[in-house]
Amino acid sequence: MDTHQVKVARRMQETPDICVLELVACDGAPLPSFSAGSHVDVFLAGDMTRQYSLCNDPSDRHRYMLGVLREQAGRGGSAAMHALQVGDTLKISTPKNHFALAGTENRSLLIAGGIGVTPILCMAERLSVLGADFEMHYCTRSEERTAFRRRIGESAFADRVRFHFDDGAPSQWFDLARVLSDQPAGTQLYVCGPKGLMDAVLEAARKSGWPEDRLHYEFFAGAAPVAIDGDSPFDVKIASTGQVIRVDAGKTVVECLAAAGIHVDTSCEQGVCGTCLTRVLEGEPDHRDIYLMPEERARNDAFLPCCSRSKSPVLVLDL
Ligand code: FES
Repeated sequence: MDTHQVKVARRMQETPDICVLELVACDGAPLPSFSAGSHVDVFLAGDMTRQYSLCNDPSDRHRYMLGVLREQAGRGGSAAMHALQVGDTLKISTPKNHFALAGTENRSLLIAGGIGVTPILCMAERLSVLGADFEMHYCTRSEERTAFRRRIGESAFADRVRFHFDDGAPSQWFDLARVLSDQPAGTQLYVCGPKGLMDAVLEAARKSGWPEDRLHYEFFAGAAPVAIDGDSPFDVKIASTGQVIRVDAGKTVVECLAAAGIHVDTSCEQGVCGTCLTRVLEGEPDHRDIYLMPEERARNDAFLPCCSRSKSPVLVLDL
């Protein structure tokens, strides 16, 4: 994997819980280009890897900007990011994009909840530069907890953004059914935010007949239920060697494979990024990720071994 050494050039406290880090290359060189919706892996001390969406204009080559929510119940990644100060250095990956704009010839409907605004904001920047038709809805708990309010207000696309505050007047609450029904045919929908909002948006869109190829979404790490009480052990069989490896409750397939000397690339370890995707030749996975589309899950020919388990006693893996 290509990595880059960057340093914190600026740190802004957007809200009490959200800081924005501006990263530049340590050697002052331009950074790899990226497209709207991209994220980078950030490699932190203690072998922690976290994904953060880039929230600046994708035409920037001199910097990456990340918005980081401090998660009270997090596993330490967001606290480490919040502790960074100007001048601190970091190792990051080249940007990757699992949440790209699907085209700009049709209208785009952008829906963001909380910190899910980061990739959505990047999309709004891009659509605005391209002169494309779009509207953006941004839902947060309150005005004080709304990151990028000033930046959006001063942007060229300010009039395309509607803010919805949970504690605001009912007249400005997010009317999902109306927003969906107001869209012209062919509109592409992009949503990123808390799982509850994303589930509600996607379910309402599917129920009102939006085709799957016009629904685009990205979950955040932490949304996937990785372990569930009552998990049972099962076996994985390595197709190329016939080796059988037991996966006990409380252990992931990736951990058990590693203990047997079999390496699978991982990044988020939470079923979010897709890095560990592995082909399944026999058996029925118990999908715990939030990366695969419903139809991909139903095929049962691949799974994410960093978090998913097995419904059948044995899973035969194409390894
Ligand atoms: Fe990210 Fe498995 S490592 S989905």
